[in-house]
Amino acid sequence: MNVKKGIKQLKNGKPILIYDSSDREGETDIVAPAKHTNPNTILRMRRDGGGLICVAIPPKAAEKLNLKYTSDILKQTGYKFNKKVPYDQRSSFSIWVNHKDTYTGITDKDRSKTAKELSKAVETTINKENYNFEKQFRAPGHVPILRAAKGLTKNRTGQTELSIEMAQKANITPAMVLCEMLDNKTGEALPKEKAIEYGEKNNIPFLTGSQIKNY
Ligand code: 5RP
Ligand code: CA
Repeated sequence: MNVKKGIKQLKNGKPILIYDSSDREGETDIVAPAKHTNPNTILRMRRDGGGLICVAIPPKAAEKLNLKYTSDILKQTGYKFNKKVPYDQRSSFSIWVNHKDTYTGITDKDRSKTAKELSKAVETTINKENYNFEKQFRAPGHVPILRAAKGLTKNRTGQTELSIEMAQKANITPAMVLCEMLDNKTGEALPKEKAIEYGEKNNIPFLTGSQIKNY
């Protein structure tokens, strides 16, 4: 039921909430289609979410656009970070970018422009058209790109994969802007119950990782 509501919401360009699981991060992200991002989307994320605002993209598009994992880039440059992420096999971070038509890159207007343009880049590669990424973006920038794992939730069940899987179910461009919800009182991840409450108050469907995987 929730997943159905979530699909409808995404089709309408609106946000959903995705909680991964209690045995992983135990976090809820606000997730919205990057294609329909506007400055208000970013404002909601930093005001009601408060975590990091990122854009998740599918593995094929990342490969086509030559967007490698940051961990692989660092390895190639000689860094030897041995400590693993405590809750998963690897982090999904790729590079951080700003679209060329932004100024500092951090404002709501700038970050929404970058997110929207990332969606365009993904859509172009999906349509098998050429896309010159380096001509359109600057790096480093203020919007981290998250690269979903091959096979999506079969291999990793972070919000990166869960949000791309939801985009696929909704048949929308699979580029999703997302942000973790933090508790303004404790600074910890917002407890699941409070995230559900927020969703009910604001008419935003709350979905869990297992609901998405089992749909
Ligand atoms: C970027 C993150 C977040 O946890 C985000 O939800 C995506 O990561 P993951 O797929 O690992 O859950 O690390 O702020
Ligand atoms: Ca997460």
